[in-house]
This record gives sequence, structure tokens and C-alpha cells, in this order.
Amino acid sequence: MQTTNSSTLVFSRRWHSLSNALQDRGLAAMILNPGPSLVYLSGLQFHLSERPITLIFIPGKDPFLVLPKLEHIKTLDLPYQLNTYLYDEEPTSWQAVFAQALQASGVNGKRLGVEPRRLRLLEYGILKKAAPEAEFVNAEESIASLRMQKDGGELTAMRKAAEIAQNALLNTLPMIKVGVTERQIAAELTLQLLRNGSDGEIPFAPIVSGGPNSANPHATPTDRALRDGDLLVIDWGASYQGYYSDITRTFAVGTPNKEELNIGQVVYQANSTARQAVHPGITAHQVDQAARAVIDTAGYGEFFTHRTGHGLGMEGHEEPYIRTGNDLILKQGMTFTIEPGIYLPGRNGVRIEDDVVVTEQGVESLTNLPREVQTLG
Ligand code: CO
Ligand code: CO
Repeated sequence: MQTTNSSTLVFSRRWHSLSNALQDRGLAAMILNPGPSLVYLSGLQFHLSERPITLIFIPGKDPFLVLPKLEHIKTLDLPYQLNTYLYDEEPTSWQAVFAQALQASGVNGKRLGVEPRRLRLLEYGILKKAAPEAEFVNAEESIASLRMQKDGGELTAMRKAAEIAQNALLNTLPMIKVGVTERQIAAELTLQLLRNGSDGEIPFAPIVSGGPNSANPHATPTDRALRDGDLLVIDWGASYQGYYSDITRTFAVGTPNKEELNIGQVVYQANSTARQAVHPGITAHQVDQAARAVIDTAGYGEFFTHRTGHGLGMEGHEEPYIRTGNDLILKQGMTFTIEPGIYLPGRNGVRIEDDVVVTEQGVESLTNLPREVQTLG
């Protein structure tokens, strides 16, 4: 899987921005390990495994990459120059290869940015031994702030991820009726995601929760069969060129009762109000409050138990987090979910989730399946 738009221009733009961010913080380099930030900066896709892989990004220099020989092939057709250091299958030889790379890069004695959620004790031990005078500093923010604002190629991939997920659901809907289990629906939806073009690694296993299970926002599909009058929450997403979608729709099976119709309507209003509130210059907090006010006014405030949304891109949850108290100002190109919900324990729940991008003037929804609670079967 290659990242989208892996052209020389795209990388040089990203490197330039990261160089500025590092200089602002007095950092000589950024150390990256397998994960979305490494893909973002290099286009290189590796898994975190027992074989340590490290990229050293230094402003103004060709990046240094230490990796196992068997992964070398991935580096042979890149639109930029790379200093590669390869090690073989004998683990006792790895330290010496890292030592050579760190020596050549000249980072010993410098302040180096790392991502604490990616740098494991495995890599840290090796790097510390290879550059004992270096200082390792949390620089997660420096790269997260770049990744928050998507460029045109990234948005194209996200639109496609949304389209794949929506088509997968449309192909799954005909099987949904009384008597079918959550697990059967989840299995079909997963298959449809792959058939419709999702990357093999889907962002997360679909949530399919019916009846009282729908009151649990993070339910796992069970063998419970749908009954007449159930609400059914489906939360699913696709991955396209490493970019994700994350959508939720709620359905009524058979004949919904009054309470279900009511909370469905309230959540629909909360979703619409929050989406329409989005524009450059508004804060994440204000968007969260826009959704919350609708649900509070309807008397269900205590049953909206989570934040209104989260950033979305190469990770299922990333910045910006659309939550109370987050005064981050939203800017053009930021992508996140709007997903208010109401959960009545032991009874039922509704969530309606869309993926949006802040545009020059306002907002665009990447997802557009009908949002109101629809009746199936
Ligand atoms: Co979701
Ligand atoms: Co979500």
C-alpha cells in the first residue's frame, strides 16, 4: 500500500513544514518509527515488529533509514534520496548498524524529537546506546499539527474511503431484518468493505448493535438476533491508500416506539446543527457545544456520554478532538467526525456520525448517506 500522492513535491512540502516546526522547538532531528507519521513523511509503509526500523529526519539532509534487509525493496523506487542502513537476520549485529547510521547522521549530543506512542523501549535502548549524548524529547505535537490539515491528495483519498464505506453499507442493508444476528451483519459488512475496494486493513471492526446493545457506544457484535422494534446502530469505516472513513447510522427494525423516534430526531438535529456550525475560526469546543446544546435542550444531556467527534485521517482517532474545553481553532483542511449520540441504558441508543472537512468558507461533509433514522424490514 502506497500513500496517496507520493510525489517529490508533496514530500518536499511536508519536509519543509516539519523543518520549520523542529527549528521552532530547537530540535536537530525527528526520529520516526513505523506508523502513520513515517508514512506521511516518507511514503514508506512498515509494521512495528520485532525488527526495529527507524527513520532520522534532519532538516536540509537526505533522511537516514535503518531497516532489515528484507524490507530494502520498499526503498528502491522513492521520489527522493535516502541514506539506508541495512541489517541482516542476526539480532546481535543490529546495534552496530544503528551506531553507524547515528554516527553518520551526526545527531549525538543533539536534541531529537520522538513520538512517544511509536518509540518503544526496543528502539529507545538501541538509539540511546548508539548516541549516548543525545536528548530525546516528545515532539508528537510538531508532526500532529502538520498532519491535521490535509492537502488535496489526502482529501481525495478520504472521499474515496467514505464512498467505499457507504457502498459497502448499501450492499449490506438488504439482508437486515428481524431474526438476523449482529455478528451476521458485521460479517457481511466487512466482506462488502473489501469487495468495494477498502485496503485489507480496515480501520476498525464494525460495530453492529441492536436493541439494548445499542445503548453501549463501543459494543462488540454478538449472536443476538434482531427483534421487531429494535434500534440498530452500525458504525463502520473503510481505508483507502491508508486514509480512513468512520461513519455511523442508526436504523429502526420493524416498528419503532415513540421514545426511539424521539431520540432519533434529537440526535439527527444535533448532528445537523454541529455540522453546520463548522467553519474556519470556530473552536473545537464550540462545535462540541453546538451538538450538546440540542441534546441538553431536549432533556437528554446526561445520556450523551462522549465527545462530539475526533480527528480522522491516517488514524481512526487523531487531532483535532471535538470536545468540551478544547480551544483549538479549526482551520481549512482539518478533517474530523461529528458523532453525537444518546444512550439509554438497558433500552436503546442512537448515534449519527459523519466525516467532515473544514473548507475555505465553511464545511463539506465527506459522507452523505441519509442521516435520519430509517426503518428497515
Ligand atoms: Co465511528
Ligand atoms: Co468515530
